[in-house]
Amino acid sequence: MNAFHYQDGQLYVENIAINQIAQNIPTPFYLYSQQGIAEHFTAFDDAAKKHLKKSLTCFAIKSNANPSILKLLARLGAGADIVSGGELLLALKAGIPAEKIVFSGVGKTREELTLAVERDIKQINVESEEEALMLDEIAISVGKKAKIALRINPDVDAHTHDKITTGKKENKFGVDWKKARSLYRLFATSKGLSPVGIDVHVGSQILEIEPFVEAFMRAAEIVRLLRADGIDISTIDVGGGLGVAYTPEDVALSAQTYMSAVGKILADLDCEIVFEPGRFLVASSGVLVSKVVRIKQTELKSFLVLDAGMNDLIRPAIYDAYHGIISVKEGKNDHTYDVVGPICESSDVFGKDRLLPAMKEGDLVVLQTAGAYGSAMGSNYNFRPLCAEVLVNNDQYAVVRNRQSFEDMLTLTSVAPWL
Ligand code: LLP
Repeated sequence: MNAFHYQDGQLYVENIAINQIAQNIPTPFYLYSQQGIAEHFTAFDDAAKKHLKKSLTCFAIKSNANPSILKLLARLGAGADIVSGGELLLALKAGIPAEKIVFSGVGKTREELTLAVERDIKQINVESEEEALMLDEIAISVGKKAKIALRINPDVDAHTHDKITTGKKENKFGVDWKKARSLYRLFATSKGLSPVGIDVHVGSQILEIEPFVEAFMRAAEIVRLLRADGIDISTIDVGGGLGVAYTPEDVALSAQTYMSAVGKILADLDCEIVFEPGRFLVASSGVLVSKVVRIKQTELKSFLVLDAGMNDLIRPAIYDAYHGIISVKEGKNDHTYDVVGPICESSDVFGKDRLLPAMKEGDLVVLQTAGAYGSAMGSNYNFRPLCAEVLVNNDQYAVVRNRQSFEDMLTLTSVAPWL
């Protein structure tokens, strides 16, 4: 089911008209469909279970850190892929048990590693020998063994945007796969580390199966070599990265196609397979609702100026990302606009030459496929408040994050006493 659809000339999310919500909540705001998220999680997780004996789907919290969404996913059985101490506390607070939490990232601090060891999380994905040595020392001082997986860098091109590719040799992520064997030998002799798994993640918004296949084959090869060395690896973390369709031309892989490839390459190793999907679970179930501030006509263009800006949704500005833009009131798409925000930067453009119905001040539009890396990457740039987030479930809705007030934005600041 498509959670967002027109009914009687109005755009609905599940069973509520968006203009009805916008009467009570100031725009811009993010709007999520609970049903949509649940359906995507279930499709992914069921496909995993169909192709693998043991699997765990750990939601990549970085893509959407709203506590209600985390709670929903926790209830459906999700674990969490975290990248900071804050995300660790958030995951635990949402009811995701420590034994379902994996910790990724190249720059985990001493404090964050200590917290992870103390909380006994499922696995820490170490990204360098240096990190492993620090973790060994921490685990010994805490009196525990840290369960680790080495994140290998398989030197695979994910054919995605340069800024979100992670598995090439020149990227900062993981350890050259050729060094894995000798590092695991080192881990096996350490006092504080328990090497339980291997980890690989080659990038995000991947639309082809080949990069995944290449990376998983590399991981499988290393697991076999390690077993020959007497090191028993019981989990393979295959990261996230499954892309979604943003443009009308994009064709995304289905969970079935992806899982069937995972199964073919990894099932016979008898390991638990850990997944870290973010975007695939939440992107298409979220939109950014925004109001037209004015239409600015120049010699060359009609600018549709919105009350949402790049501080609310930064993806177009930093990745040239495409987000569909549609009117909340259904109409004939016979007008061409450059859809822009109010921020004082030329990169604050959501879309060029977009077809929409004739628009006027106060009309509502939605920026589609904004459930992942939307609100999560919001900022206070131009001293604008972080906007509200609203969750819909059938015909009810709840504000699951309030819009910041002017006072909220000032809370942590103070004026130097000498001024
Ligand atoms: N695991 C690791 C280690 C990651 O670095 C990431 C994403 C994921 C899992 C989740 O990837 P996903 O399934 O969501 O593709 N801000 C960018 C995306 C950055 C992705 C960073 N890492 C964007 O808006 O496109």
